[in-house]
Amino acid sequence: MADKRALAERISSEEIEKQYEYMRRVRDITAKKAAERGAPLYACVKTYGCQQNEADSERLAGMAVEMGYSLTDDDKCADLILINTCAVREHAELKALSITGQFKHLKEKNKELVIGICGCMVSQEHRCDDIKHRYPYVDFLFGTSMLYRLPEILCKRLSGGRRGFYSDYGAGNIAEGLPVSRKAPYKAWVSVMYGCNNFCTYCIVPYVRGRERSRLKEDILKEVRELVQNGCHEITLLGQNVNSYGLDIEEYKEKYDFASLLCDINDIEGDFLIRFMTSHPKDASKRLIDTLATLKKAAPHFHLPLQSGSDRVLKRMNRRYTSADYLKLLAYMREKMPDICVTSDIITGFPGETEEDFEETLRVIKEANYDMIYSFIYSKRKGTPAAEYDDQIPADVTSARFRRLLDTQNEIAKEKNSLLVGKTFRVLCDGVSKSDENMYTGRTPGAKLVHFPSDTDVTGEFVSVKITSAETFALFGEKV
Ligand code: 5AD
Ligand code: SF4
Repeated sequence: MADKRALAERISSEEIEKQYEYMRRVRDITAKKAAERGAPLYACVKTYGCQQNEADSERLAGMAVEMGYSLTDDDKCADLILINTCAVREHAELKALSITGQFKHLKEKNKELVIGICGCMVSQEHRCDDIKHRYPYVDFLFGTSMLYRLPEILCKRLSGGRRGFYSDYGAGNIAEGLPVSRKAPYKAWVSVMYGCNNFCTYCIVPYVRGRERSRLKEDILKEVRELVQNGCHEITLLGQNVNSYGLDIEEYKEKYDFASLLCDINDIEGDFLIRFMTSHPKDASKRLIDTLATLKKAAPHFHLPLQSGSDRVLKRMNRRYTSADYLKLLAYMREKMPDICVTSDIITGFPGETEEDFEETLRVIKEANYDMIYSFIYSKRKGTPAAEYDDQIPADVTSARFRRLLDTQNEIAKEKNSLLVGKTFRVLCDGVSKSDENMYTGRTPGAKLVHFPSDTDVTGEFVSVKITSAETFALFGEKV
């Protein structure tokens, strides 16, 4: 895989303009079809995986709108279906393949339906080959670095071209200036960098998303300014390892880093909250923590993935810190920001993980006293070093550990949440609760889920909510 990785490049404005020209051409085609049928053409974007994929999908949707499509969540009435896939765990890949399988019937009913698959899964050679042969009704594939070329790829196919296979196998680039169609006007993802250089031995991301590359600060600040001017109340800065922001830009060296970027965003006028993810513990510096502690708009939440509490496992994962380093960093963070909410990612069943290693993880998560963890069962990823380790853990052992991990963390989370009863938070409302239509849902600045009743629709607004009760995964409260 590694030999096919190209160097990162910034896509030129001429190239982006060329894509806008393709968008105009597709718009002519869709306008003609819409006039014939007396109804608009619909595009449906299905997204799997992380927030970066969500952000990418908003660009896919933006380009689809620019090309004359109306957006729909209903794949049955779509004329264009784009499946934006994830490769981090096998489960996500199987889900994307399963839904692709179901679309065969849609294509049989509607010969003009166009189906494209993109994202991390198709940045792997074996998956591209598989889809090419086993799903002949898929019109085109394109890897993560080809996203900006959707207009060209679609235009060629709609103009009678053959099936297109635009694989990239982890090449990287930066494409600015694409249209975006965001899900909500009041909160937004803003990528600050793409790719990863860390090569944790279990992880496929560096192979499918390429090397770290940072957007220019001017581009990021302009995007945030426009969002805030249009009423956005929450900006989440995205990167696989935001602490490496700027390291790949020569003129930023020693002068401008992620902490500087946070300060500049904090200085933008307006009522909004700044979130960011993800940080690698080896790079989360004291300077970043000191800076964060002074920024009024920065949310008091830090996502700091531990992955394992065992130093032996951390070494085999190539994480480059020990559990003691990690806990020291956490203690410093809490000293500077006593109310900060801390969340983490933990993997169970990494190859060679012994009972003692796992107990180390339980010990460290108890000491870390997390507000929440995202726990994952190790998934073997073809092409990563850990997939070659010969001490893979049997599924029953991993599941039993996974259960114990959840039980341990659930107790911690419930206890921590119960301490919040009686406190009042400024909650950004996300709309009606999915589980109870009489309740609204939002998040505290520390990113905890809160349910509360409201007589008026407060979606997208900051609301003061006093917490009246707490459960493991959510708080309940009332407007004050
Ligand atoms: N198996 C299980 N979990 C994984 N993650 C990354 N790769 C794998 C894998 N092969 C988890 C890590 C990471 C999160 C986004 O996904 O915990 O922090
Ligand atoms: Fe994967 Fe490690 Fe990079 Fe995170 S830091 S994306 S876990 S390789």
